[in-house]
Amino acid sequence: MLLNTSLKMQQGSFYIAVWGCQMNVYDADRIADLLSAMGYVRSEGPKGAQIIVLVTCAVRAKAEDKVFNQIAAWQHDGVINDNTILCLGGCIGSELGQKLIEFNSRLNIVFGPRTAHKLPSLINAYKENHRAIIDTEADSLEKFDRLPESGRRGPSAFVTIMEGCSNKCSYCIVPYTRGEEESRPMQDILDEILIHLENGAKEIHLLGQNVNSYRGPSASGETHFSTLLYEIAALGGVERLRFTTSNPMDFSDDIVKAIGEIEIIANAVHVPIQSGSNRILQLMRRRYTQDDYLRLVDKLRNVREDIAISSDFIVGFPGESDEDFKQTLEVVDKVKFDQSFSFVYSKRPGTPAALMEDKVPLEVKKERLYKLQAKLEEYATLHTNKMLGTTQQVLVEGISRKDQSELKSRASNNRIVVFKGSPNLIGQMAEVKIESLSAHTLRGKLI
Ligand code: SAH
Ligand code: SF4
Ligand code: F3S
Repeated sequence: MLLNTSLKMQQGSFYIAVWGCQMNVYDADRIADLLSAMGYVRSEGPKGAQIIVLVTCAVRAKAEDKVFNQIAAWQHDGVINDNTILCLGGCIGSELGQKLIEFNSRLNIVFGPRTAHKLPSLINAYKENHRAIIDTEADSLEKFDRLPESGRRGPSAFVTIMEGCSNKCSYCIVPYTRGEEESRPMQDILDEILIHLENGAKEIHLLGQNVNSYRGPSASGETHFSTLLYEIAALGGVERLRFTTSNPMDFSDDIVKAIGEIEIIANAVHVPIQSGSNRILQLMRRRYTQDDYLRLVDKLRNVREDIAISSDFIVGFPGESDEDFKQTLEVVDKVKFDQSFSFVYSKRPGTPAALMEDKVPLEVKKERLYKLQAKLEEYATLHTNKMLGTTQQVLVEGISRKDQSELKSRASNNRIVVFKGSPNLIGQMAEVKIESLSAHTLRGKLI
């Protein structure tokens, strides 16, 4: 024990900053495991850390700006000193590679989503010769082979089931940053889930850019996503199962059936429609129509009447007319989506949409976004209000930040619910009756 502590003292500390999607959160947790195994201690802030790791997102220009502004601020404030090893990973790493080091000579190591597991060896190499290193290419799914078992403890655990995306929607940079879609073998996923259960997890959240096109190698050949869901349920011990993101195009009937049959699947699905206009969907290369989407919603509500359906929207795609946008508003009225995300289209270099003529002024795009968000908010509030008086199964995540005497928990439909109860409940499922709603906070009473 003493030896271990003194080794850690010698190595110093590391700080990890994460932007972007949950897959980056998963990667950052694995990176933290690897650096801890090297003897570094995780630091809550960047100041004084010997190693600073940025796990970045490139999905919109704004996401990129945030990262570069953060580095500039740290340089300005002296957080990054001569001895700091500055490592940039995630999607900007693979998008820009060498260009990053030309752009900012203070960066020491650049890696990508597929080379996160190599960080310890890259750090050791850098320490030896002090030359900047770029390593963003890796074969297949070796990242998952080499990552250590997660020691992360918490009631909910992310498990990435696939890497990359091959859909190549015309606006999206992800296929170029995370590479072609590849699924992890089913047994590896089940083994990883068992580790999380041993560590006390009650909820498993499966991650992938397109989970419903999962095709994992298994003993019986190729496993489809629905089979994976049944196998996870059969493990026993998982009390709640979530998955993100589902592409409407691959949401086959066997997955809908599984949602109807597997009780532990949470009462919420995130199925991004992006636009309600068939013309725009075609330009986006989304390969479904508004009608296809509405049929899917009907099927889902047939097997689970009150399932929360949430979505992502892009407004102001090149050439989007008032009429196209009207169809997006109309589909929102038809589906009555639950809590969703919406963005103004952001031009991503190297994607097909970046070459399309885009005459819609930014002001018009912003107006459309506000209109859409107001409508989405209306329906999300409607769904929240419906929860008043109901009994909800919640997973207790911790102490409420606003009021230390209350617990913070999450309902099956993803809503946060606070209630008074013993801290012994943290990490457990509980039944709570929803009694009030004030300023977006649902408050309940333990049953
Ligand atoms: N694989 C998921 C989405 C991953 S990216 C899917 O297909 O549903 C998350 C969201 O970012 C997308 O759903 C989309 O709404 C948004 N997005 C992606 N590229 C964008 C761009 N160039 N401009 C604006 N929003 C974008
Ligand atoms: Fe991007 Fe489309 Fe793949 Fe989603 S499905 S990650 S939007 S290319
Ligand atoms: Fe961003 Fe890469 Fe995820 S671009 S949204 S971090 S896949």
